[in-house]
Amino acid sequence: MLSQTLQDALNEQMKNEFFSAYLYKAMAAYFESEDLPGFAVWMRVQAMEEMTHGEMFFNFICEAGGRAVLHAIDAPKGDYASPYDVFEYALEHEYFVTDRINKLMDLARAESNHATQIFLQWFVTEQVEEEASFGLMKKKLKRVEGDGRGLLMLDQEAGTRTFTPPAGLTVTGA
Ligand code: FEO
Repeated sequence: MLSQTLQDALNEQMKNEFFSAYLYKAMAAYFESEDLPGFAVWMRVQAMEEMTHGEMFFNFICEAGGRAVLHAIDAPKGDYASPYDVFEYALEHEYFVTDRINKLMDLARAESNHATQIFLQWFVTEQVEEEASFGLMKKKLKRVEGDGRGLLMLDQEAGTRTFTPPAGLTVTGA
């Protein structure tokens, strides 16, 4: 059972997660256009992860007896000054998402909605990982600024990233 306020807030966060997928896909397109295929893979994998996050919100809202509502998604920023600029923007976006998750958790606590708190716990932990991985790549890119060879090596490293769906995320018609 979800209150209308909590249901609205969960739907808003579902939109934020799907927007994140759209944003990282736009960043992948930027890297493709810059002939940096490894970073493009990194961002494509990130976009797929964000789709699963949106899916998890969709599942939870429905299972909790609520109504999933798909809001309009803004066009993401597609042009960037450099690979470093991309990760700086992306990290700021993740800080925004963390803030939204924390506020959602505050709301679930205020309403004593324990099921929503347990559901959100996964995202609280996930955001720590998200900030760490974007932050690390930003630091590495700072280190290779102006060093084309270093950038290509980082691109190769970024290209080894693979997609693994979160444990427990299943879609069944049963
Ligand atoms: Fe699902 Fe990167 O926040």
